[in-house]
Amino acid sequence: MLTIAVSKGRIYEEALPLLAEAGITPVDDPKTCRKLILQTTRDDVQLVIIRATDVPTFVEYGAADLGIAGKDVLLEHGAESLYEPLDLNIACCRLMTAAHKDAPEISGRIRVATKYVKTAQRYFASKGIQAEIIKLYGSMELAPLVGLADCIVDLVDTGNTLKANGLEPRDLIMNISSRLVVNKAAMKMKHEAIASLLAQFEQTLAQR
Ligand code: ATP
Ligand code: PRP
Repeated sequence: MLTIAVSKGRIYEEALPLLAEAGITPVDDPKTCRKLILQTTRDDVQLVIIRATDVPTFVEYGAADLGIAGKDVLLEHGAESLYEPLDLNIACCRLMTAAHKDAPEISGRIRVATKYVKTAQRYFASKGIQAEIIKLYGSMELAPLVGLADCIVDLVDTGNTLKANGLEPRDLIMNISSRLVVNKAAMKMKHEAIASLLAQFEQTLAQR
């Protein structure tokens, strides 16, 4: 049995066609069903439905053999303990700094609100900017509006969320997409099954 960890929502929706090409279609729909383990049309594959930020943890500890996670989440988790063999090119967006559209260029000591604490620390340190990082769990765009932070580090896709809140994108930290991650022990113990699944995903991605 292969267990694949996927988060509900955006990644799940975008991963479905890719999984289907490998013959994997969940029997239940996580939008309407409260089950956390989904059987699929393949007897040898099941999905576990978890929070996006928990995917690397499940895969690292072998609770799932494989997982699908955003590069943003992997960067923050520290992905040395996982194999990351494939860029699935789904849930694409950008990790950026953003600030109020009238705010001056970032300089001196700044306060930054983000859920990507380690990534932001590394980024500002690499730029030689002294940054105090304030950890938030969501609605980062609010922080500059209420004086909690000078800028934010968050994901940007269309830019609509920033615009709706009077903010603007500033510096690109990294282009983000979702990656297939694999538990290191499973890669050895279940090599044949995992290699065959990887080959199927690679073939589908090559045709896109
Ligand atoms: P959690 O539930 O763990 O807090 P989340 O609410 O961030 O996670 P999603 O919003 O489903 O979960 O995002 C999952 C992944 O999708 C992110 O880690 C990122 O890689 C990608 N993503 C997030 N926002 C966007 C977006 N606006 N456009 C495209 N991809 C995005
Ligand atoms: C993400 C991200 C931004 C927004 C950017 O939020 O945190 O707020 O998308 O997308 P845009 O540039 O297209 O507006 P999401 O939709 O995942 O909401 P959540 O973080 O509250 O789950």
